[in-house]
Amino acid sequence: MTARGGMAAMAALLVSMGAAVADERAGQGEGKAAQCVACHGIRGLAPNPTFPHLAGQNAAYLEIQLRYFRAGERYHPLMTPIAETLSDQDIDELAAYYSELQPQSEAP
Ligand code: HEC
Repeated sequence: MTARGGMAAMAALLVSMGAAVADERAGQGEGKAAQCVACHGIRGLAPNPTFPHLAGQNAAYLEIQLRYFRAGERYHPLMTPIAETLSDQDIDELAAYYSELQPQSEAP
């Protein structure tokens, strides 16, 4: 194998490993999301209009908001106590999970 071919193979391997890691995170998040269902609904579609839908939201946004709640930079009496129990890993996995769900309606 040439050095160049080796590099390309290595890059391809890293990309596929990245995708596998993302799937793994979402899978772990699915289990942890049991504690979110009461308010954010099954598969992230909230049954009550006072709770936001989470399905299909960008993972980076979800992660940032969960960190804000946990740090007290964003506050809600129902949401804050839950965010305070989450580890960095929980937040990563929950954000990955919700971002992969089908949103309520697709943009046209
Ligand atoms: C007891 C009800 C309740 C539970 C359980 C709950 N949440 Fe929330 N969540 C809320 C409410 C209410 C808001 C809106 C807060 C506000 O108005 O700022 C919210 C907001 C959020 C937001 C911000 C959404 C946005 O569009 O900005 C995220 C992300 C979130 N919740 C994630 C979660 C996750 C993940 C869990 C489970 C670990 C969870 N929530 C459990 C009530 C809840």
